[in-house]
Amino acid sequence: MKRLEGKVALVTGAAQGIGAGISRVLATHGAVVALTDVSDAVNETAEALRGDGLTAHGWVMDVTDRAQVDGVVEKVIEEHGKIDILVNNAGIYPRRRLVEMDDDFMTRIFEVNVFGMFRCARAVLPGMMERRYGKIVNMSSVTGPMVGTPAGGQTAYAATKSAVQGFTVALALETAQHGINVNCVMPGYIESRSAWGLRGSRVEEDAEEAMKEFGMNIPWGRQGTPEEVGELVLFLASDESRYITGASMVIDGGNILQEEFLGPYHPK
Ligand SMILES: NC(=O)c1ccc[n+]([C@@H]2O[C@H](COP(=O)([O-])OP(=O)(O)OC[C@H]3O[C@@H](n4cnc5c(N)ncnc54)[C@H](O)[C@@H]3O)[C@@H](O)[C@H]2O)c1
Repeated sequence: MKRLEGKVALVTGAAQGIGAGISRVLATHGAVVALTDVSDAVNETAEALRGDGLTAHGWVMDVTDRAQVDGVVEKVIEEHGKIDILVNNAGIYPRRRLVEMDDDFMTRIFEVNVFGMFRCARAVLPGMMERRYGKIVNMSSVTGPMVGTPAGGQTAYAATKSAVQGFTVALALETAQHGINVNCVMPGYIESRSAWGLRGSRVEEDAEEAMKEFGMNIPWGRQGTPEEVGELVLFLASDESRYITGASMVIDGGNILQEEFLGPYHPK
């Protein structure tokens, strides 16, 4: 039997990147997956999964809009009977130095990365508590507890990703007696089109080469893939991890272990 057979998962920010990778892995392991995203491209992403014989449905849902979040959660429960797994992945990572930041910028990044997660968890929890079963996985980052770039511009993003960890431990305690696990993952550098510009690619044509070169700064010799993050989420969403709650797990190919960069690294 597949590890997530009979389970229903809702993933936010699932149109592309890490969220799409997580959705693919959860569906491959038997879950019915509701892919949600502010972009309607999520419907094509879900269609591609169905094309591979997986059970996936696309929903347009902006995590900054309470009515949309509550409405989609209600409809998914109506259609599939329950939500067992929530993956709070939707996030944005614009960079701006503090002295150049206006209040709209600060508010926007917290609205998506932090309060979006609050809204989704609040919407799914009553059903999970009633059934005494639930797995919530939140997307933090290694940027938060630490910050890798001397170039600056990451005060807002780092603050949101540290907030994800605070939320995770507090909610884990609040829900442990209801049989619910709440954990977070802290990815390092994961392949993502959205991050090309931040990682040395100037134009689309040089992206592959630039990403390969960037990967040489990482001890593992490359960036991680969205599916590798998906495998970690699969573990945290499955019953094998039932006694783990409030944990933060780093997945970064050893990148934060280095005190001094002596690279580039070439995989042997
Ligand atoms: N890529 C990395 O290296 C990396 C590293 C650490 C953490 N993360 C985190 O992983 C998550 C996914 O990152 P990614 O690189 O796949 O990004 P991405 O930009 O490829 O995907 C993010 C998705 O979230 C969606 N989204 C944005 N705002 C939304 C909203 N208001 N409501 C619903 N959906 C919304 C976007 O449309 C997009 O499809 C983010 O939370 C990010 O902070 C990424």
